[in-house]
Amino acid sequence: MRHTKTLPFKSIKLLILILTITACRHEPDAMPDNPGPGPDTTSQGIPCDPDTIYFTNDILPILTSGCTMSGCHDAASASDGIVLTSWESVMASGVVRPGNPGDSDLYENITEDDPDKRMPPPPMAALQAEQIQKIRKWIEQGARNNACTAGCDTTQFTFSAVIQPIINTYCKGCHSGVAPSGNISLDGYATIRAAALNGSLYGAVSHQPSYTPMPFNAAKLPECNIIQIRKWIENGTPEN
Ligand code: HEC
Repeated sequence: MRHTKTLPFKSIKLLILILTITACRHEPDAMPDNPGPGPDTTSQGIPCDPDTIYFTNDILPILTSGCTMSGCHDAASASDGIVLTSWESVMASGVVRPGNPGDSDLYENITEDDPDKRMPPPPMAALQAEQIQKIRKWIEQGARNNACTAGCDTTQFTFSAVIQPIINTYCKGCHSGVAPSGNISLDGYATIRAAALNGSLYGAVSHQPSYTPMPFNAAKLPECNIIQIRKWIENGTPEN
């Protein structure tokens, strides 16, 4: 091993080097300063403001169903050094510049036209336009670690207004496209109903012992949503 003094330790050069490599590599200890995340507004009991995008409520479910499957951006695989399982890991991966979606790798990759560069990569489906818009707005609003308490009413459980949006938010990223996880597609009424009727939908979301807990490798659904799914099934899985 030769030890040559080739590294210029002028701090400005080091800074430029770090900024350049963190776009695609993650050195957790080399990047102690997250770019201005703003105040931590994580809190219980804040009612959801319709004009605000919340990390816990809106963004994390998109990342969980679109990006953190095994082999991709979960903690164990950390593909390209990027982990997208929590606000902390997203920020530490350096893929978000608060306030600036155009300069955020996360946003650039999900809006990439070239299928070779797009995330999630084919054969997975691209994120839906509404999901992309939420990520953009969340970054514009400062990419905060925020959460709110959504009004959730267990007396409401129609398919179109309640059940399908839950599945779209938390499940569709993995359970759609040409190679859905577990070979189970949940991309519309017919397939969601089939999973309801064979018992696996409720079994998986309520974490019953004989089923693999869903969403896969992520926090359990809010209890209110689980009750809504149960009531929809008990009422005969109506389409409207
Ligand atoms: C990150 C990817 C991912 C997400 C998100 C996800 N799943 Fe899954 N799902 C899987 C994988 C992988 C399997 C296969 C697991 C296995 O075979 O053990 C699976 C299996 C299932 C099964 C079959 C379980 C069984 O034991 O028979 C059901 C039902 C299911 N998922 C429903 C859902 C629902 C409902 C959601 C949303 C609330 C969801 N999944 C979210 C990846 C995911």
